[in-house]
Amino acid sequence: MTTQKTAKLTLADGREHTLPVTVGSENEHALDIRALRNDTGYITLDTGYMNTGATTSAITYLDGEQGILRYRGYPIEELAEKSTFVETSYLLIHGRLPTQAELSEFSRKLTYHSMIHEGMRHFFEGFPDRSHPMAVLSAMVTSLSAYYPDCLDRDAPMDLHVTRIMSKVRTIAAFSYKKTIGQPIMYPRNALSYCANFLHMMFAVPAEPYEPDPVVVKAVNQLLILHADHEQNCSTSTVRLVGSSGANVYAAVAAGILALWGPLHGGANQAVIEMLEMIANPNGPYKGDHKKFINEVKDKKSNTRLMGFGHRVYKNYDPRAKILKAMADEVLDHLGVKDPMLDMAKAMEEVALKDDYFVSKKLYPNVDFYSGILYRAIGIPTEMFTVMFALGRIPGWLAHWKEMVEDPSQKIGRPRQIYTGPTVRHYVPIDQRTGG
Ligand code: CMC
Repeated sequence: MTTQKTAKLTLADGREHTLPVTVGSENEHALDIRALRNDTGYITLDTGYMNTGATTSAITYLDGEQGILRYRGYPIEELAEKSTFVETSYLLIHGRLPTQAELSEFSRKLTYHSMIHEGMRHFFEGFPDRSHPMAVLSAMVTSLSAYYPDCLDRDAPMDLHVTRIMSKVRTIAAFSYKKTIGQPIMYPRNALSYCANFLHMMFAVPAEPYEPDPVVVKAVNQLLILHADHEQNCSTSTVRLVGSSGANVYAAVAAGILALWGPLHGGANQAVIEMLEMIANPNGPYKGDHKKFINEVKDKKSNTRLMGFGHRVYKNYDPRAKILKAMADEVLDHLGVKDPMLDMAKAMEEVALKDDYFVSKKLYPNVDFYSGILYRAIGIPTEMFTVMFALGRIPGWLAHWKEMVEDPSQKIGRPRQIYTGPTVRHYVPIDQRTGG
């Protein structure tokens, strides 16, 4: 990272201000405006942070024009093919691939911390039957801070909390699913790997033995790796913002889970399947006619979006969607599942990628377009899809939180604004007000 280049800004009154230029390791350029307000009285205005770099970061590199995604320098394609979720999590959090001894120790800790306090297990009884699992997950992650109060001391060692969150979120996710279907919860089995243990807690029942299918275990590993980080997206920025106030790591991660829930972010995977089911419904408005739906999307007045398409950063095919599309074919084939939603999704992609509306706006399938079809085939219910996204994103959130708190130049996140309300006016007693 260098700051030798500069840029010149000429203000409306003719004053000139010199801005240092920060250049990243992949030659990304930023105007450093940190002295701008002090020197000129101006701030910058960037609704939705379309052009604002909130931080420098050494975790993930994303080139949206080229469709490139790398964690700590490693291409996502290589990690998805060769790594495991646990190894990739270590990479994200610690900055390098682990040695065998380091990986074994990290896995051992994740196994060892997989149980949740029995007191917390009773919390599940208190939620209404139809609770959305994201509501349960966020509440449970916040509650963990009550069981580990030393997290409130920012000088206490944090590695243990990082391990606890990664391990217990998986247990909480599975327990919340068991609650919704009225089955007894299944405790983790220490002999199983991280993803196999998750499948065991989700799908085993006490009445009979359960052995996770190795192809499904690999698919879950790949799905979680593909979701593990995506630099300064909405939920990760939320984790950083909440963490910047000194709030504990459980609070910061719970806030990230809530930001992820929205349908424009992680909630899109649920929205995609709901959209496909609505189009396919013989009694619904489209009766299987996906072209009719796409025409409606193109009509601005309809306010309808093709869910799972488009991205703030990718203006090319999302590399994660490319991997997921191929995986969907392989995994459904292995499981002998014939899902008409996969055929419809592919048909819609084909129509959209030839249509000027989508081409001119550079709208391509994103990570959420095919992931739901895979989750369905594995047996994960639609309402759990965003929980799966959260499970995958945990190491990314933790890596960003760690990077932030270890940075001595870190400051509380506090954007400014341009005020557009009334100028000063004076209080009028209620009997003298005319309304309006
Ligand atoms: N369907 C139809 N039109 C779209 C879509 C879509 N999915 N996405 C963007 N557009 C249009 C939009 O109407 C706008 O048109 P115009 O310039 O004529 O006003 C233009 O493309 C730019 O859209 P935008 O909303 O200004 O772009 P953004 O960068 O603010 O939004 C997005 C990015 C992901 C929120 C958006 O593409 C979207 O709503 N997609 C559907 C939801 C979705 O799949 N979200 C998951 C994102 S990937 C997972 C994650 O990281 O969270």
